[in-house]
Amino acid sequence: MTFPVLPRSGGVTQRWETHTASRSTESSSIRADRMTGPVAYMRVLGRDVVVLNTAKAAIDLFEKRSAIYSTRPRFVMLNEVARFDWVMAFMPYGHWLRLHRRALHKHLNESAAKIWWSAQHDLNAQFLKRLLDTPGDWWDLTHWLAGATIMRIAFGIDVVQKKDPWIELGIDVAEAASQAGRFGAFAVDLFPLLKHVPAWFPGAKFKRDALEWQRIHLRARNLPFQRITEDIATGKAVPCIATAMLEEETRDTSLPEEVVKNALGVMYIAGADTALAVMRVFFFAMVKHPSAQKAAQAEIDRVLLNDSLPSYRDRARLPLVEALYRETLRMYPVTPLNAHCVTEDDDYGGMLIPKGSTVIANTWGILHNEETYAEPEVFKPERFLTQGMLDPDVFDPRDAVFGYGRRVCPGKHVADAELWLLVATMLACFNISPTLDDNGDPMIPSSTMSSGLVSSVSHFPCNIELRTESKRAAIMEKVPDPIRA
Ligand code: HEM
Repeated sequence: MTFPVLPRSGGVTQRWETHTASRSTESSSIRADRMTGPVAYMRVLGRDVVVLNTAKAAIDLFEKRSAIYSTRPRFVMLNEVARFDWVMAFMPYGHWLRLHRRALHKHLNESAAKIWWSAQHDLNAQFLKRLLDTPGDWWDLTHWLAGATIMRIAFGIDVVQKKDPWIELGIDVAEAASQAGRFGAFAVDLFPLLKHVPAWFPGAKFKRDALEWQRIHLRARNLPFQRITEDIATGKAVPCIATAMLEEETRDTSLPEEVVKNALGVMYIAGADTALAVMRVFFFAMVKHPSAQKAAQAEIDRVLLNDSLPSYRDRARLPLVEALYRETLRMYPVTPLNAHCVTEDDDYGGMLIPKGSTVIANTWGILHNEETYAEPEVFKPERFLTQGMLDPDVFDPRDAVFGYGRRVCPGKHVADAELWLLVATMLACFNISPTLDDNGDPMIPSSTMSSGLVSSVSHFPCNIELRTESKRAAIMEKVPDPIRA
């Protein structure tokens, strides 16, 4: 597909670079990974779409000009038909969104996030213990860890079983959001008037699907909330973000119950699926890049004595582990495209970006940009180091993966802590390697990541083996309370 000339700016007509975009076979979302040049323009389904392919362009617009780049595009199917409009991530920018962001920020900002470290340590230890017993279950166990972490932090709920109803509900709601969020898959996104068609009307399957999705996401918002209010009433509630917010709500009239309910519900929706995707791409990266795995393990063995397991206080002492974690986020970004919308006509480098354009940070492209990262297709954690220390001049992929400016992910610090701990303790305790086929050859999984709101790898087999018996003792020593099968 070729793209047209964009409108004028300052009397000068400039031809925007034209590019080809490919449509992924797996979903209808656009893969922008084949676009080059710092800024690209295209017209998609009647919309002006501007794609930012460099960190500089994303920061220039989403951060430095955040006053006009912080709203979201109109999502007719997602927000107006399937009614995901209570979900912060899909809300337009404004007072209502700011109330929600403020409510979450108070409990998830960099310093507040440390309160959850001990819960994260416990859950991580339970995960390692379970992996020790059933390494073949790693795929489901990552699901448990991601879901259990959010349920514990947000609602004080202990998810003990692997196939817990809370985890199942989380799966259903993530699937519903990703179905409804397939922009271009629904005629109603092109012709919004179709939203008035009744559900029984022939051809209105989208309305019937939307009703089903709505039923699922409203359960995800209401059930955990109902449970925590009951726990508070019966004195069983464990301190968590919900108890703190509900206490604030009774004191602070500027925090209405609806905001509390929405903000807690969104953690469940936005927090588990994304972290889960990173956990799985980490296993994937380790299967594909064994020498990077060995080098990081050697660092852990050198720095941590007596076989102790890494904890947050060791983070700064393990620069190569940090670099491997960042390289995983860079090489396999789970949030490859990030859509904002501009509320005024704007001029960027002599190009007019028309008011109402969907402006997409092409996170995948930003993190595979040769000018930022030499040999971007090579998995090379050392790119983040200089003289054995983290190099502050190398762009940190977290600054792209977690989004930008006034819409930056509020769960960034909690997720970062959870993921780093998983990476560090997995490297310390286990070898992750490909399984062998009948001929004894390693089965390397394909590099294709799914497209959609959150991008991940498909299920693949791998071997997970304890590195040394002494690690078994170290894991057992930490396990607070084994989870049940
Ligand atoms: C690896 C894990 C995660 C990744 C990669 C991730 C990534 C993102 C990204 C890219 C955005 C959009 C930012 C933008 O528009 O510029 C976002 C928004 C959001 N994230 Fe996360 N996130 C993660 C975990 C979490 C967690 C754990 C929570 C909650 C505790 C959370 C809550 C949210 C919310 C509420 C929004 C919407 C913010 C808004 O639109 O104003 N996320 N996240």
